[in-house]
Amino acid sequence: MRALEAVIGYCPHLSGISNTRSRINLNKMATVKFLFEDTSIPPQTVSGDFEDKSILELTEDYDIHLNHNCGGVCACSTCHVYVEKGDEFLEEISDKEEDFIDRAINPRLESRLGCQCVILDNDAEITVTIPDQRRIIGHEH
Ligand code: FES
Repeated sequence: MRALEAVIGYCPHLSGISNTRSRINLNKMATVKFLFEDTSIPPQTVSGDFEDKSILELTEDYDIHLNHNCGGVCACSTCHVYVEKGDEFLEEISDKEEDFIDRAINPRLESRLGCQCVILDNDAEITVTIPDQRRIIGHEH
């Protein structure tokens, strides 16, 4: 309620509707659109409170196949993805991540490792392409 008043200023007409105001509470939701190199898989868009979640965690949550042989500790390249849009909403790439991206299949400028792509806030609008997982030797998790 105070956050909303800070944005719009005090309004006596709103004073009796605190529940409405807390629902308004600037509930932002991040949106991530998944595209797939394997065109037999339809695109999928998910929205929610994704702050501090990685792209790999989202793929797990939404049953999207993305290999992750090292378990998400930046020690392989099997979670390689292409961030087509919204890179500014992700944690910056590290030297270690760049080293592993160089070992991925078909690395490009937009390449990232899904486990290292941590979403910074819920303003995020991100589009990610998942490489064809049939070309990657992955462990079943
Ligand atoms: S799961 Fe191994 S680097 Fe992401």
